[in-house]
Amino acid sequence: MKATLCDGIDWVGHVDWIVRDFHGYDTELGATYNAYLIRDEKVALIDTVKAPFAEDLLAHIAALTTPDKIDYVICNHAEPDHASAMPVIMAALPNATVVCNSKCRLALGRHFDTSDWRFHEVTTGDRLPLGKRSLQFINTPMVHWPESMFTYVPEEKILFSMDAFGQHYASSQRFDDEVDLPTVMEEARAYYANIVMPYGQRVKKVLTAAAGLDIEMIAPSHGIIWRSHIDKIIAAYHDWASYKPKPKVLIIYDTMWNSTGEMAKAILEGATQPGVETHLLHIRHTSLTRLVTEVLDAAAIAFGSPTLNTGMMPMAAAALTYLKGLRPSNKAGFSFGSYGWSRGGPEAINDVLEQMRWEITHEPVKAQFRPTPEILERCRLAGMDLARRATLMSKGYSATESTNQVGDDNV
Ligand code: FEO
Repeated sequence: MKATLCDGIDWVGHVDWIVRDFHGYDTELGATYNAYLIRDEKVALIDTVKAPFAEDLLAHIAALTTPDKIDYVICNHAEPDHASAMPVIMAALPNATVVCNSKCRLALGRHFDTSDWRFHEVTTGDRLPLGKRSLQFINTPMVHWPESMFTYVPEEKILFSMDAFGQHYASSQRFDDEVDLPTVMEEARAYYANIVMPYGQRVKKVLTAAAGLDIEMIAPSHGIIWRSHIDKIIAAYHDWASYKPKPKVLIIYDTMWNSTGEMAKAILEGATQPGVETHLLHIRHTSLTRLVTEVLDAAAIAFGSPTLNTGMMPMAAAALTYLKGLRPSNKAGFSFGSYGWSRGGPEAINDVLEQMRWEITHEPVKAQFRPTPEILERCRLAGMDLARRATLMSKGYSATESTNQVGDDNV
């Protein structure tokens, strides 16, 4: 498989068509580990691949040059999906120096025996001449590891952005104008939600830095390369980093004997209003990856579980643990669920929603054993309230401000 970004710069990575579980992330469409080779007076390899695919990377390199010609291995990110091939690669490249920032050097040293590797440390603003071209470096800490870094080639206007702007998407094509754009944007949304979401403030800084660059191509370390729709992915990152919600309501729930399920459907009925997108997501029938992706741009969320052993159901707890770690912000919501002889499920969910600093729109809505018509009506009204808030929040009101706007007609 061959792909040329421009004369002298080629993709030399690996397409993993098979992978469906990327440390818990459901990669339904596979993945790629992108590496790039720049051939100039000096030759630079930008990033490597996951360890099992090191030989594939070396074969791609061998089709373009000989290993002894490679002067630099740029490590933008030390996470093993990009760096775990480095011991094999460095052993195969006798004249290569690793170029990375100081934090990356430390991280590589914790992962591998780097005692025989030559290093050249760089930081933001440093420039490395290659000949006709040069490399500029921009540290991007916590997008999404401390050592994360962009590499920019000003002469070609190409930004090598490691994970940022990436997608888990296996394809025989390499560029955004060769594939189905909505599919790629959806996978970019999933990638942002599951990997980048906790670092919105950092992403904003990166976007500010990127705005100062003249960019004609963004080459991430996963998925397709952006060259025709850069404006779309940049605009999407601005929205996601700002936690800008759509007029969208989610009802996320688990249920045992369908009492909480009936409540969920009543909330859905109330939330189904003109101009409002609604999704009913059964936790045990929705992957955590997809669930979090839907949360990313939702304004309002009802989260339900019956009480089991004085707490919430285990998959509800798993979903909330994952969600809490990703720190979704600017959300309004409430908890709901049934109980039998002891309470605990909806209350435990409410505690987590508060810990995430969501705007709590209602006290936990609960039903003992079966929801009565009155309780189902409360669910419908609470759903209508979420729909109103979602509309307001999509117009720029924050979750907190939505409380003042909807008035006192809550259940
Ligand atoms: Fe694709 Fe953070 O590694």
